[in-house]
Parts: sequence; structure tokens; C-alpha cells
Amino acid sequence: MTEAPVLTIDGPSGAGKGTVSRLVARRLGWRFLDSGAIYRALAWAARRRGVDLNDADAVARVAGEMELEFICDDDVKVLVDGEDVTDRLQTEECGRIASKIAAYPQVRRALLDKQRAFRRPPGLVADGRDMGTVVFPDAPYKVFLTASAEERARRRYLQLKAQGLDVNLDQIIKDLEERDRRDREREESPLVPAKDAVVIDSSDLSIDEVVDRVLALLPETVKSSSGATASSGSGGEDQLRRN
Ligand code: DC
Repeated sequence: MTEAPVLTIDGPSGAGKGTVSRLVARRLGWRFLDSGAIYRALAWAARRRGVDLNDADAVARVAGEMELEFICDDDVKVLVDGEDVTDRLQTEECGRIASKIAAYPQVRRALLDKQRAFRRPPGLVADGRDMGTVVFPDAPYKVFLTASAEERARRRYLQLKAQGLDVNLDQIIKDLEERDRRDREREESPLVPAKDAVVIDSSDLSIDEVVDRVLALLPETVKSSSGATASSGSGGEDQLRRN
């Protein structure tokens, strides 16, 4: 049996991966994997269990033990050990811990099968840092979505402000650069474009323009069997959200 097709969308924080991946998945009628949410869920579960976050083996054990469930309605809910933690995974602190524990090779290995299990018909859009390089290296369609650091920080700033949070742009830039550096420089599965990925810079593009460029990479046969249209107007917000 041939495997379900996968479209991988990798890139740094704030490039628009999350919003674009969800919209593309919806247009194609495919499943969606937010792999960052898995690392965030593990960060949360490890903290919850009081595990020493510097102990890579202990954190990897939590990856094997935790019960993870994604409930996909209009929005995606993440349940860890039966508890809805969706909102708690969005904090800057959770992102920072996720980035730290994501550097442990044992942790990445422990999460591989959980991620690959999302590959099911009719297809999968997978959003992350190493989707095209490590988790789904044989994916037929690969995108590396990026944007300037200033633009990514600006989007994050506007998003947090819209949530009513008291935020500081300089601090956001500092956090973003630190997380980028750690994700890019780690030895295991660093954030790099796959050799066969198409690089899209979203700095000056609207969401619909990015979605259209991504969909243009897929053959018409795939889109028509999924019922996707090539035109814009996906109903996406014009401001790119987190990721
Ligand atoms: O995409 P995100 O901000 O939710 O991801 C949180 C952290 O998880 C990110 O800083 C690095 C890590 N991550 C990873 O190492 N590999 C992935 N495929 C996805 C996320």
C-alpha cells in the first residue's frame, strides 16, 4: 500500500507556519500535525511531574509515559493525561522549555513514532522544525517558511497585545533570537531547510498569498482529488498568527 502524501512546512518561530499549515490542511481536506504542540505538551507534562528539566533521560521517559490526545474541531485542543492544556501551551515560558528539551536526542527519538502516526489518508500537513529533514524525509512536498526576525517579532508582539498582555518588543526580539539560535545550532535535528524544500519568505506576503504559493506546489491531480481550489480567499486572517 502506498503511504498517504505529506506536505511538510518547517521554519523558525513566527514565520506563519501554524496559520498557513492549518489553512492549507483545511483546503486540502488533509490532517494536520502541529509538532511544536507535542514538544510543548511534553514540556508541560515534565514540569507537572516535577522532573528535572536538565535530566534528558528523565524527560524522555515522560515522553513515553504521557498520554497525548489532539481533538480537532474548528480549533485543535490538546489533552495531556486527559487534561485540556491547550491554552497553557501557548505561553512564552512553555515555548522556552520546549525549545530546551527539544535539543535532547533521547526526547526527539521518543517522539518520532507519535508524530509519524499522524500520517494517514487522505494526507497530512506537518508543521515544525524537522518535518522535511527527519520525521518525514520521503514527503513529496516540502516547504521552508521563513520571514525576517523583525517581522516575526512584530507579529508576535501584535498577537500578545491583542490578548491583552503587557509586552515589550525588545524582550520579544531577544527571546525569539535566543530560541532561533538554540533550534538552529542544536546537534540533533537542527532547524535547516531540507535539500528538496521550496523556501518561501513570508515577510511581505499576506496569509492568502502564502497559502496560494504553497498550494501551487501540489499537482492539480492531488488538489482536485482533495477538492482544493487554487484561488485565494481561504477565509484566513490577514495577520499571520503564532508560528
Ligand atoms: O513551533 P513551536 O514554537 O510551538 O515549537 C516549540 C519548540 O519546540 C521550538 O522552539 C522547538 C521545538 N520543536 C522542535 O524542536 N521540532 C519540531 N518539529 C517542532 C518544535
